[in-house]
Amino acid sequence: MSFEHLLSRAGERMQQSAIRQMGTVAASLPDVISFAPGYPAPETFAWDDYRTIADDVLSGADGTALQYGPTRGFGPLLDTLVSLLAARGITSTVEQLQLTTGSQQGLDLVARVLLDPGDVALVELPSYTGALTAFRNVMASLVGVRRDDEGIDLDHLETTVARLSAEGRRVKFLYLVPNFQNPTGALMSLARRRAVLDWALRRDLIIVEDDPYGALYFEDTTSPDETRPIKADDRDGRVIYLSSFSKTLSPAFRVAWVTAHPSLAARFETAKQALDLCTGNFDQRMVYESCRRGVLDRQVPKLRAFYQRNRTVMQEALRERLGDRITWAIPRGGFFLWASLPEGVDTMKMLDRAMRHRVIYVAGSPFFVDGSGQQTLRLAFSFVQPARLVEGVERLSTAIMEELETIPKLAAKQEG
Ligand SMILES: Cc1ncc(COP(=O)(O)O)c(C=O)c1O
Repeated sequence: MSFEHLLSRAGERMQQSAIRQMGTVAASLPDVISFAPGYPAPETFAWDDYRTIADDVLSGADGTALQYGPTRGFGPLLDTLVSLLAARGITSTVEQLQLTTGSQQGLDLVARVLLDPGDVALVELPSYTGALTAFRNVMASLVGVRRDDEGIDLDHLETTVARLSAEGRRVKFLYLVPNFQNPTGALMSLARRRAVLDWALRRDLIIVEDDPYGALYFEDTTSPDETRPIKADDRDGRVIYLSSFSKTLSPAFRVAWVTAHPSLAARFETAKQALDLCTGNFDQRMVYESCRRGVLDRQVPKLRAFYQRNRTVMQEALRERLGDRITWAIPRGGFFLWASLPEGVDTMKMLDRAMRHRVIYVAGSPFFVDGSGQQTLRLAFSFVQPARLVEGVERLSTAIMEELETIPKLAAKQEG
């Protein structure tokens, strides 16, 4: 049976995530080193603590642990989030909080509650594809805004919004990942954060701030003050702030949250009721107990050191093997290194060659809503062990050098 004629307009347009597709391809190839998925390293998981906590939660003493729970979230976990947010400089009450099944669900809730078909969501060039997918699924129109070294380009933001307003388009929000952005790994400067909040106030727009990586700053280059969320300086509730335990505890728990103006939080709750009634109660207990027993506090400094080391190994291997043939900014936190190759290289096409050398990455173009970014790629250094990181960079370098030789202008330059 064919279903094409029965699909909704939104259903017809839904697109597979490019990253997930590439991850699936990689998993099916033997001995491939994959820099594609932004996964945490499993050796960092607090396996022993989770075993003990699961045993206690499953003792049967509290029957609600395996029961349906409130849509807003498990009460004690919501209280814990209030304190966790306060440590990030954000004042939030329980009324402003909504637990979500991963931040991905938070993005979906934002899309459902705020975007009508044709409404404009402003996104960075490049931007996290999971957010782009959530916004596209409700048939929003995505408009890209350029970035510079400090973050979103305010001049381009202003001219873009002025143009859209003149065309009578309805702009709803600006989506940002200020801390160690996916895919670029970039950290937005504090001055730029303040400026973009002022801009949103002037333009009366919402900022959707997505912050799964803020805790994972690298102590060799970055101070925690530099990760201060935009939400911390939000005085009138125009910032919707999302964060997650996926990168600090485990993505398997699927526990994350949104904090927003109480009236929006109430809408998110209603929208979530139709999606999954509530986030898994057992998962929430695991996360709550991990916070209460100090697992999270013990984990985070270890993770910073672990990912910092991986970053250093990858970036030194890249420097040694590729020198100035490609460019990148050294990541100061998070999971990703973003590289630009010379003009003329198409990293999507280069994937075949990379796979022949048994290495994989995410091509940059799916992160750009304006069709650009062909010569960029994202490398996740989070998931691959150090010895394999070096081996993977060697394979990638071979693929890149071969590719550069196929581009006549570049090959001539290399010979010269
Ligand atoms: C920027 C960003 N937002 C949201 C997510 C979704 O995270 P989760 O649903 O696991 O909380 C990710 C995952 O990689 C991400 O990089």
